[in-house]
Amino acid sequence: MAGRFDMTAKVVSIREVAPETFLLTLHAPEIAEYAVPGQFVMIRPRQEAGFDPLLRRPFSIHRVHAQQEHIEILFRVVGRGTRLLAKVCRGSVLCVLGPLGKGFEVRPAKIPVLVGGGLGVAPLLFLADRLKGGKGVIILGALTKGFLLRLDAFSLTGLDVLVATEDGSFGNKGLVTEVLNRLLGRLEAESRRQIIVFSCGPIPMLRAVAGLSKSYQVECQVSLEAYMACGIGLCMGCAIRAGRQGYLHVCKDGPVFPANLIDWDQI
Ligand SMILES: Cc1cc2nc3c(=O)[nH]c(=O)nc-3n(C[C@H](O)[C@H](O)[C@H](O)COP(=O)(O)OP(=O)(O)OC[C@H]3O[C@@H](n4cnc5c(N)ncnc54)[C@H](O)[C@@H]3O)c2cc1C
Ligand code: FES
Repeated sequence: MAGRFDMTAKVVSIREVAPETFLLTLHAPEIAEYAVPGQFVMIRPRQEAGFDPLLRRPFSIHRVHAQQEHIEILFRVVGRGTRLLAKVCRGSVLCVLGPLGKGFEVRPAKIPVLVGGGLGVAPLLFLADRLKGGKGVIILGALTKGFLLRLDAFSLTGLDVLVATEDGSFGNKGLVTEVLNRLLGRLEAESRRQIIVFSCGPIPMLRAVAGLSKSYQVECQVSLEAYMACGIGLCMGCAIRAGRQGYLHVCKDGPVFPANLIDWDQI
C-alpha cells in the first residue's frame, strides 16, 4: 500500500560531511519502501519530548537503501530546528512523516541531465541511483571544493559527473549553468530533444537552468523549496505563483514541478 506514514524512525547514524552539513541515516521501513526520488519527509527535529520547536521541518529524501530499510537525509544547519537535528544521537528516535509530495517524472526514452547546486544535490542522489546503469550526466556545483557534496557517491552511480566550483578549486571554474550551457550548446537540435534536465538548488540557479532549458527547447523539471508548516496541503503556507495556474502548493503539487509551470519573475 503506497501512501504516507507517520512513524518513529531510529537514528542509524549521523556524521558531518562538510562544514555544518550532516548526513543522517534513519531506519524507516515504510518510507524506504514507497518513496520515489524527489519526495520529501517532515522531521520533528528533537529526540526528547516537548513542543519546541513545534513544527516539523521538511527535508528531501537524499537516498534510500531498500534492503536495510534506511533513508538518508542530507541537511545543513541554518537555524534552531536543524541545529537540534544535528545533535541527535545514534539509537534515538525521531518522528517522521512521509514520503510526501510529487517526485521527478523519469522518461525512460530520454537522457537525463541532473543539475545540482550546493545543498540542491540532496534529492538528486536518490534519482541518480535509480538511473544507474543507463546513460546520463550529473553536473554538481559548489562555492569551493570544500563545499562539494557527495561527489564520491554520485561518481559510483556510473553516470558522467561534471563539477563546477565558483572559485575554480575543483573541476570547471564557474557556475553549473555555464557547464549546462556548454553541454546543451554542443548538441544538434535533434539530440537536444532527447535530453531531460532535473534540477535542484537556489532559486537564481533554478531560474537560469529553466531559462537555458527553455531556450534550447529541452524538457526541465525543478525541485523547489518553500516555508512549510504541515507538508500535506492543509495550511496553505507553501503557496507559490505559477503562471496561468494561479497558485501551486509546493508540498502537494510539488516539490518537483515542470519548469515551465513556474512564474520565474514572481518566485
Ligand atoms: C521540500 C523541501 C525539501 C528540503 N530539503 C532539504 C534538504 O534536503 N536539506 C536541507 O538542509 N534543507 C532542506 N530544506 C530546507 C529545510 O527545510 C530548512 O532549512 C529547515 O526547515 C530550516 O529549519 P530551522 O529550524 O533550522 O531554521 P529556521 O530557524 O526555521 O530558519 C533559519 C533560516 O533558514 C531559512 N529557512 C527556513 N526554512 C526555509 C525554507 N524552506 N526555504 C528557504 N529558507 C528557509 C529562514 O528564512 C531563516 O533565515 C527543504 C525544504 C523543503 C520545503
Ligand atoms: S505546507 Fe501546509 S499546505 Fe503546504
